[in-house]
Amino acid sequence: MVMLGKDLLGIHDLTPDQISLVLDTALSMKEVSAREIKKVPTLRGKTVINLFYEPSTRTRTSFELAGKRLSADVINISAGSSSVVKGETLEDTGRNLQAMNPDLIVLRHASAGAPQLLAKMLPSSIINAGDGAHEHPTQALLDAFTIRERKQTLQGLTVVIAGDITHSRVARSNIDLLLKMGATVRVCGPRTMVPLYIEKMGVTFVPRLEEAIEGADVIMMLRIQMERQRGSLFPSIREYSRFFGLNREKLKHARDDVLIMHPGPVNRGVEISPELLDSPYTIILDQVTNGVAIRMALMYLLIGK
Ligand code: CP
Repeated sequence: MVMLGKDLLGIHDLTPDQISLVLDTALSMKEVSAREIKKVPTLRGKTVINLFYEPSTRTRTSFELAGKRLSADVINISAGSSSVVKGETLEDTGRNLQAMNPDLIVLRHASAGAPQLLAKMLPSSIINAGDGAHEHPTQALLDAFTIRERKQTLQGLTVVIAGDITHSRVARSNIDLLLKMGATVRVCGPRTMVPLYIEKMGVTFVPRLEEAIEGADVIMMLRIQMERQRGSLFPSIREYSRFFGLNREKLKHARDDVLIMHPGPVNRGVEISPELLDSPYTIILDQVTNGVAIRMALMYLLIGK
């Protein structure tokens, strides 16, 4: 029988069967969110703590909604309004939260490996909600769910991931998941934003966006992660957008049924032109909707059984 372990720390730790289990479970969770009364008693009596050391709109809100729709008690902690600002370490914060006996801690942190640290220390389940430039596994799972919803399968698809690959935990988790599930992945971006070793991950690097998107089924555009860059990696936003921004003209090189995705938040007019953002090709809000279902599925699989 396929099951998840105690924690969800990265796509790296999941088998294709475990990924399919999460996606299949999310299907029934999505149905709960479509009901008039969006609540089931599955996690009654369970406690979830969302511990966020970095800003978030989509991930934090969807984890909170996911917990509440499953009837868990959900507590949100932002580092900026907690005792972290008084100098408390992550380890001590974790120990103190554990003393209140939660079942699950959802952690977003600027340091790669922070969720692994808490997972080793604490008996609670830990979900990685993004650790530095390392992994964002729940984003990759919701992206996979969204693609599968439209294309029925991931097997055999060609997915382009374009933009600031180096600083993107979304790219790393998506590459890992898509390859495990039988998709082909091309990456594209300024050479200064694509790791030199990238082809060792099993992807193809295509420097020109027009060429990268030829025949692609899905294009994932990434945000420029200014907050993680040291020094300027491109001459100007205008030049970046000219070469690596997606617009109607460049989209002529893609298939007619191509899907455009973005993990958000979008820099409108930089990564994707406003007219494409509001076009039927773009399924960014489907990604957001499906984020709740994926996080409900993970909570159920980790602490509901
Ligand atoms: N995609 C994503 O992680 O968005 P937030 O930073 O708003 O959570």
